[in-house]
Amino acid sequence: MKTIFNSLGSNYSLKFAMQALFARNKKTSNDDLKAYLKKEFGGEVTLFYKARQAIEYAIDVCDFPKGSKVAVSGFTCAVVPKAIEHAGLSYIFIDVEPNDVNFQIASLGQMYTPDTKIRAVVVQNTFGFTQDIAPIEKFCKERGIVLIEDLAHSVGAVYPDGRKTGTVGDFVILSFSQDKLLDAVSGGALIVRNKHFSKIPEKKWSEISFVEQLRDRFYPSLTYKVRFMYAIGLGKIYHFILKKLHALSMPVYNLDKTDFKILPSWEAELALFRLKNLPEELVERRKKAEMYLENLILHPVVTKESISRASCLRIPVRIDDREDFIRFARKNSIHISDVWYDVPVSPKRYWNLFSKGFTLPEAINLSERIINFPTHLNMTKANIKKVIEVYKKWK
Ligand SMILES: Cc1ncc(COP(=O)(O)O)c(C=O)c1O
Repeated sequence: MKTIFNSLGSNYSLKFAMQALFARNKKTSNDDLKAYLKKEFGGEVTLFYKARQAIEYAIDVCDFPKGSKVAVSGFTCAVVPKAIEHAGLSYIFIDVEPNDVNFQIASLGQMYTPDTKIRAVVVQNTFGFTQDIAPIEKFCKERGIVLIEDLAHSVGAVYPDGRKTGTVGDFVILSFSQDKLLDAVSGGALIVRNKHFSKIPEKKWSEISFVEQLRDRFYPSLTYKVRFMYAIGLGKIYHFILKKLHALSMPVYNLDKTDFKILPSWEAELALFRLKNLPEELVERRKKAEMYLENLILHPVVTKESISRASCLRIPVRIDDREDFIRFARKNSIHISDVWYDVPVSPKRYWNLFSKGFTLPEAINLSERIINFPTHLNMTKANIKKVIEVYKKWK
């Protein structure tokens, strides 16, 4: 039976799983990746083991006075505000607009007064659907606010004014971690585009342990096997055993501050492979998004026009009885319970760390109803048809 997943290593083919197992630790891979990124985005590149460390480092580079704040989306992953906290600053969540998965200038403007001490703004372009960057850029320039483009969801996307993501901000963040567009299991990059910030501070760096590297190397092949086992009815137990043995790398394992970690060169090689394949992959993701749009009522942010510019990491749908649909989908071998995001600052187990002091009515509303449909490389046309059929049947 066809089994469909939102995540669980779905970005990997069997060939890629083998590539991860046997990728060599070539000395030149990190430099090759940096050179590629420099050419693409124009700026000084530093590589990290995770994008969250790139965000922390970007804030460090800015050297803001104590008490400064960084504005981030109120619909995000917990590692983003935590990175700001690790850099010694605090965050301000900006609520998403009604009928959007992002904040726009209106909500940013409402949260800003000279007293809020917002010194940087992170745009996140959730799921690859871009924010209206021009007014945000203008707003930042007029107030001397640093603009950080976090492209974890949106590398290769285009803003409404025609500029590519990663060509506007003072800093650009990329993620090469699990389930992202450039999935090399782990990895991140910071590109400092504004020369004013080129002085990189001295920091403590360490290497990823042998065990963690082993876990990353085996993640694509193990998840490939888990997905296969689901197809023959043994997936749940096999997945459970692997989790119990801590054999699978986790995207958000803990939120503690650590040393900055060097990206292993074999993962840099995989990231470069992903980058080179990105244009082709985006064409496919957009086609898949269009198939959903032609057949279903999706979240209003998804339109023919927005798809043509988006990187379509996942396709959002808003439904009232989400849990019921997730159960129904599971019975039909569609596993989409990994919802981005099921609370405004996800995952749920950490939400209480962030919820105090913020009112995020739109993000709460959205996170209670959102489902994401997959567009990754394992989603064939037949798989998309199946998701559409099952969803229609449930409705
Ligand atoms: C919007 C966004 N930015 C950054 C990150 C951090 O990426 P990484 O896992 O590489 O640290 C995530 C992770 O989920 C994310 O969703």
